[in-house]
Amino acid sequence: MSKSQEQMPAYSEAVKSGLYAKKSGLVGKYDNVRKFWEDENTRMFLRPFVQEAINKAAARMRRLRILDLGCGSADGYELLSGIRYRDADLHQAEVEMLSGDVLGLYKGVDLNEDLLEQARGIYGGNPKMLFEKVDFTDGFMNSDKDGPYDLYFSSFGTFSHHNDDESAINLLAEIAESTQEQSFVVCDWLGRYSYEWWNLWTNQPQELRNMDYVVSYIYDKEEREEKRDSLQHLNLRLMSREEAEYIISEAGRRSGIYIKARKFFDRSIFTGRHMDTQEYNPHAQPLRAAMNSIHESNLRTSLDSLIIDYVPKQGFPFLNDYYEGLQMAWNTLVKYVIELLDLYDEENRCYESEPPPIPATYPRQLREMMGRMKMIIEAVGWLGNGLPRENIIEPQLGYALRYLMNSMQKGQGCGHGLVGVVEIDRSRKPE
Ligand SMILES: C[S@@+](CC[C@H](N)C(=O)[O-])C[C@H]1O[C@@H](n2cnc3c(N)ncnc32)[C@H](O)[C@@H]1O
Repeated sequence: MSKSQEQMPAYSEAVKSGLYAKKSGLVGKYDNVRKFWEDENTRMFLRPFVQEAINKAAARMRRLRILDLGCGSADGYELLSGIRYRDADLHQAEVEMLSGDVLGLYKGVDLNEDLLEQARGIYGGNPKMLFEKVDFTDGFMNSDKDGPYDLYFSSFGTFSHHNDDESAINLLAEIAESTQEQSFVVCDWLGRYSYEWWNLWTNQPQELRNMDYVVSYIYDKEEREEKRDSLQHLNLRLMSREEAEYIISEAGRRSGIYIKARKFFDRSIFTGRHMDTQEYNPHAQPLRAAMNSIHESNLRTSLDSLIIDYVPKQGFPFLNDYYEGLQMAWNTLVKYVIELLDLYDEENRCYESEPPPIPATYPRQLREMMGRMKMIIEAVGWLGNGLPRENIIEPQLGYALRYLMNSMQKGQGCGHGLVGVVEIDRSRKPE
């Protein structure tokens, strides 16, 4: 055996460990949209509630206790522990809200033993973290020995596993009964009116409660077709704000305890995973792939791939109006940036002529983002070093579009996910 051959097992070992795999943010569970949009948007939305829960626990000389319902491999812990203080200054290094002295307990429960094993493999050594196999549709709160908790958390569509309303109502009522003073519950469903599943929109939600959710997006187009018969299917509840409000008020009525939705949030409005598959909407465009590309370092994206052509659906004027307004704002920003890039003179470090004025009739958020992009291109367009378009301007356009989306969302079930924060307060009279 040659010297080189002798050394080959070291490479094979590295490949088997998975650590040698080519990592990119363009595909996979932790693609760029998940990292920079979905996780971050959820963090921004939850931040004031987590802060309030920390403050309330601290006022009673307690640290924060969290129960993650359907924790999987503890992704929720990673999401929550990444929440940052809103106004951290540039010089600050410690910016996370859930620092070691703030967290008392994180308990994750799930029905899937393999995922729990994975979670234990990562966090089993942390004495503040517990994992338990539990069916959350089965009255487990009554026998749970580690509660009560301040934050009952769920993420990425987990509440859609409650296929009938009874199961969700019961769980919320059980949580309310096991809460000592106050707590928050984060309910995370699939949005009923996501553009991804335009085919499934209905004005009679009672007739189509659950969708057949095919996990096809993990493969590219050809592989998807080859594997079609062996793809995994999940039966998942679609949720609008009205339906969620009914479930929440019913849980209050049943438990006789104050339970109220504080806020709803639409996550991933045009960027859900099924945009790229067209599985449930023949008009869907691969916008997730485009957004993944825009946030990928060292990669130049054609900005035309971001232009949305929203196709209205007859019989849904409230959705058509909403989506059309959003699409117009989004496209206006993208087209403005294309124009700014055309106008920019790198050698002389300025625009060749004054960019077109921003009409005062545009929505405030759009005007702000157009102004910001104008300043960014002017500030770094000449930089040369470090690929300013790929590594600064494109990601900043991604953040500007994210801001537009977040500030124009209405928490009505128009995103891939509908997230609701529910407050339970035993000191208040039920409404
Ligand atoms: C959409 S995944 C979310 C996983 C993880 N929280 C995340 O954010 O990636 C839903 C999780 O709920 C779990 N689950 C589904 N039905 C359940 C049940 N009845 N009881 C407990 N866990 C359940 C699944 O095993 C899965 O881990």
